[in-house]
Amino acid sequence: MYPIKRNRRLRTNEAIRSLVRETIISPNDFLVPLFIVEGKGIKEEIASMPNYYRYSLDLLQAEVKELWKLGLKSVLLFVKVPDHLKDNKGTEAINPDGLMQRAIKTVKNVCPDMLVMTDVALDPYSVYGHDGIIENGIVVNDDTVDVLAEMSISHAEAGANFVAPSDMMDGRILAIREALEDQGFTDTGIMSYSAKYASAFYGPFRDALDSAPVDAQDIPKDKKTYQMDYANRFEALRETEMDIDEGADIVMVKPGLCYLDIVREIKNEVDVPVAVYQVSGEYAMLKAAAEKGWLDHDAVMMEQVTAIKRAGADVIASYFAKDVVKIINNIS
Ligand code: PBG
Repeated sequence: MYPIKRNRRLRTNEAIRSLVRETIISPNDFLVPLFIVEGKGIKEEIASMPNYYRYSLDLLQAEVKELWKLGLKSVLLFVKVPDHLKDNKGTEAINPDGLMQRAIKTVKNVCPDMLVMTDVALDPYSVYGHDGIIENGIVVNDDTVDVLAEMSISHAEAGANFVAPSDMMDGRILAIREALEDQGFTDTGIMSYSAKYASAFYGPFRDALDSAPVDAQDIPKDKKTYQMDYANRFEALRETEMDIDEGADIVMVKPGLCYLDIVREIKNEVDVPVAVYQVSGEYAMLKAAAEKGWLDHDAVMMEQVTAIKRAGADVIASYFAKDVVKIINNIS
């Protein structure tokens, strides 16, 4: 007459729910993206990313200490490069005294055990806002890869633990790995943005770094010749397997929420840690809806990061990291 198996028994109260819960979020899951600018005393809010800031190096120090205290032990650095230092070849990217190189040293100085990962791509340094060098209206692959390898060495020399190539050029993981080995940086890791889709969710990030592709003749309007078509699935596996073969220590899927099918599929196939980037547009969407009173910010945020981990993320790069950890640690 009645069901013998009643699944609701395991949902009766919080004690039993927490006893059988499969996915637990902790500070160890997170990689915290940080935006850095030149100057002094600067902590400026990014217009399309409420409550997220760009820091000058002096104020970065306090932020890093706070992250460490909260149990957040890994950061991913991005720099906003002044316009006058941008060119087509990303020359400033390999300046040993550039903003990124100084930022790495700043973090290591205040917090030597903080894991420092650095963004490796030309877009913040490019006058055209592209992740590679442009020739005759095309983002050229191999010359760009040479710069990315040099950039990686420069970051390693400054003290980065991991470089994180986010550019989607072909063959860059192998080139970077070989360059690092050649120079003796055998312990410097590579977190590859392996399955990075050409996504409209990156808008706020490009505001943060002023790095959007410029609207000019002979300059590609978007990044679709190197970032992946969001309609594709097999390509993500192929990209990821190739990056692992080329020497990636951690692979990444980006963006997050719309791509959790890809995350699960990759997680089932590979045996290296999988990172997921919950990107700027995902952050902005929730902030905007919460501001309007349409969504419960904290509840939706916890649901989202838990879903990302449940899908198979070993590492979550997220602008929500601090907010999440404060909730876990019960700090307001
Ligand atoms: C650029 C880069 C982007 C992001 C990380 N690295 C933007 C892009 O590819 O245009 C996006 C991150 C975000 O939206 O939060 N190499």
